[in-house]
Amino acid sequence: MTTKNKLRHFLNLMDFSSDELKKMTERAIVLKKMQKKGDIYEPLKNRMLGMIFEKSSTRTRVSFETGMVQFGGGALFLSPRDTQLGRGEPIEDSARVLSQMVDMIMIRTFDQAHLETFAEYSSVPVINALTDMYHPCQLLADMQCYQEHRGSIEGKTVTWVGDGNNMCHSYINAARQWNFKLNIACPKGYDPDQDIFSAAGDHVEIIRDPMEAAIDSDLLVTDVWTSMGQEEEQARREIAFDGYIINDKLMAQADNDALFMHCLPAHRGEEVSASVIDGQQSVVWDEAGNRLHAQKALLEFLMNKTPE
Ligand code: CP
Ligand code: NVA
Repeated sequence: MTTKNKLRHFLNLMDFSSDELKKMTERAIVLKKMQKKGDIYEPLKNRMLGMIFEKSSTRTRVSFETGMVQFGGGALFLSPRDTQLGRGEPIEDSARVLSQMVDMIMIRTFDQAHLETFAEYSSVPVINALTDMYHPCQLLADMQCYQEHRGSIEGKTVTWVGDGNNMCHSYINAARQWNFKLNIACPKGYDPDQDIFSAAGDHVEIIRDPMEAAIDSDLLVTDVWTSMGQEEEQARREIAFDGYIINDKLMAQADNDALFMHCLPAHRGEEVSASVIDGQQSVVWDEAGNRLHAQKALLEFLMNKTPE
């Protein structure tokens, strides 16, 4: 990889080239095998990852923290509740201070602009661990998961069912970077961001009816109807998303070899039926597990430690 000594951030999937992303996936598959074999590999000895969480998390926190420990380093959980971040210390100051002490910073926050401001003032790599706009780390895990189960995703058809949210935006960027077709079945009023959608050109298409969108798809993906921070919209969203569920009938529209993914946490009976998420075509546990390996490849890359 070609980033020797250059400060890189991972704020969305478009920050890296397609080639860099694909190599990172290959590397994640190797790192996974090494970890399963029990190899000790510590390229980030004494390195520290700062982890700022302004929203809840299970997978993201555990995968980053475990990955850093496996790499010989450490990770620090920072929440606004018990740091000065929650008492109004400017983002610019927090970024400059933290990057004096830690080697990388991962942030889960609301506003993508806050993350970008933080990165602008940080002297160490900054990682987007979910904003209202994007969730790029999840896509690294998802693309690895597809590759492991079915080989290259290039030229395949993926159908997104549900909200045009942060995950949907990251799938749109992934369609550009991994070169696949993305059908988006979302109800009116819940479309993805127009700029993100338009930038993807022929890679993406909105097909309102999930039954039509899913025809011959190789991968079906969904996410919660109500994301973190939208809790007060829940009742309205339950009405708007009625019928936007991946169930057996919808899976039957897809290719026989189609996979089902979900970033989790899931709501059985809302965006996905229990029969699908717990069924044969679901790879959600591998997908979640890959957060560890995909992000280890990312951490290694950002610290210029990926072997040539
Ligand atoms: N998928 C995901 O990011 O999960 P968490 O919210 O548990 O981190
Ligand atoms: N769209 C969801 C993803 C959670 C991992 C949210 O932002 O809450």
